[in-house]
Amino acid sequence: MSEQIIILDFGSQYTQVIARRVRECNVYSTILPFDASADEIAEHAPRGIILSGGPSSVFARDAPLPDPKLFKLGVPILGICYGVQLLAKFLGGKVEKSNKREFGKGTLHVLDNSCALFDGLPESLQVWNSHGDKMTKLPRDFGIVATTDNSDYAVIEHRKKRIFGIQFHPEVVHTPRGREIIANYVHKICNCGKNWTMRNYLDRAIEDIRAQVGNEHVILGLSGGVDSSVAAALIHKAVGNQLTCIFVNNGLLRSREAEVVREVFGRNFQLKLKYVDDSKNFLSRLKGIKSPERKRKIIGNRFIKVFQEATRSVGKAKFLAQGTLYPDVIESVPIAGNPAALIKSHHNVGGLPKNMKFKLVEPLRCLFKDEVRILGLELGLPREIVYRQPFPGPGLAVRVMGEVTKKRLDVLRQADVIVIEEMKASDWYYKVWQSFAVLLPVKSVGVMGDVRTYEDTLAVRVVESQDGMTADWVKLPYELLEKISSRIINEVNGVNRCVFDITSKPPGTIEWE
Ligand code: XMP
Repeated sequence: MSEQIIILDFGSQYTQVIARRVRECNVYSTILPFDASADEIAEHAPRGIILSGGPSSVFARDAPLPDPKLFKLGVPILGICYGVQLLAKFLGGKVEKSNKREFGKGTLHVLDNSCALFDGLPESLQVWNSHGDKMTKLPRDFGIVATTDNSDYAVIEHRKKRIFGIQFHPEVVHTPRGREIIANYVHKICNCGKNWTMRNYLDRAIEDIRAQVGNEHVILGLSGGVDSSVAAALIHKAVGNQLTCIFVNNGLLRSREAEVVREVFGRNFQLKLKYVDDSKNFLSRLKGIKSPERKRKIIGNRFIKVFQEATRSVGKAKFLAQGTLYPDVIESVPIAGNPAALIKSHHNVGGLPKNMKFKLVEPLRCLFKDEVRILGLELGLPREIVYRQPFPGPGLAVRVMGEVTKKRLDVLRQADVIVIEEMKASDWYYKVWQSFAVLLPVKSVGVMGDVRTYEDTLAVRVVESQDGMTADWVKLPYELLEKISSRIINEVNGVNRCVFDITSKPPGTIEWE
């Protein structure tokens, strides 16, 4: 990775967004914790350094501060929001506590359009602010580039040293031309080319995998989800038959899921696929179990057992491949009140059994999800897999409330197909994070034809989210909801009532169990 931009994370909820915006400019970016030493940063030979925003105030006693030697590396620096306060603190300016927060939409007035950050941009721009403390004195030898109605120092610059401060957030969508500001920074100020493309990455990743694996064998647990599918296709391209994928049918899959995986990977890719149908055992262990946590445990444990047995029967493999992504490996910054530091706890079903002694192959470790999708398309995977919505490891078991039985799973599967079909037909499927059905153990009275019915209730959940950590329910058009509801009630035996979930996360979770 020759040219790259380092982003120092001061706890902003937008740090990863900054990293993605840089990569969208076809420039590689790496996130490091705020206290990474200047030496460590220099080892990456960065073309530029971005100081992220953060929830702290430089006045706080435990304010996160960078290594001061950072400012002597001679690399262009861009401080965003809290990053600007740091420039003031370290380079001779002044920040004062402000009681008035500047929050939300604002208008930026560019006074000095010779500043390369604003190349090709108009003199007046809509921007998104979110900051409390205010700079009251410029750092030494800095000039003012732009102002807002509330701030005389909205953008500042030390032209000779190529150090910039931006009070607003150029990385968020509410700053419509922010991407161009970031593009100007990486291309015109840091002089980066456009070398980070998935085509280039693919070639390099193949070489790396070959070098790592040599003549040894690799095993991969294929779930049919985006990450493991792309990892499988990539490793297969690199080492062909040295890869064996294991796909476990736990009886909790969606309709046609096992067929699609076998068709795509077994028949089209001609990849060595070991298909294990253990659904009977999973379901018998779930008999009579109602507690969500117990269900998850039973499924997780059984999966590990089946997977271990399957790896043994595959023979000697030295490597285990995993579809770990970049957001999973970034060290989160432990700053008080930092929402970005919350960590998911219960989502490791299907992960690496602890006692298995493999070396790991993780070819997606430095990629964001959207990059993995592009890579998947490069590798020839169908859209159906590449743009699949997230699906929980314990599968439909956490969407059948109460006891999981084959009969109830089949009812849910029928409804699930309808939700997916209608979401796709109306073009909503790819716009949302997840859309699915949940079968409730609640019976209600209805009337169908002239007959009284007393049957189950089905909930439809459709949410939008960036990363699954927070989510909001999607305001689908009534016509679409009507179509979904009437199809479910007419076509799915055993359901006579359909409700729509209007709970956000928090306080709800996305899955019901
Ligand atoms: P919750 O329900 O916690 O879900 O709001 C957040 C996201 O994670 C998915 N999810 C899981 N994924 N194993 C997984 O791989 C699991 O056990 C699991 N539980 C929830 C969920 O679908 C949502 O996208």
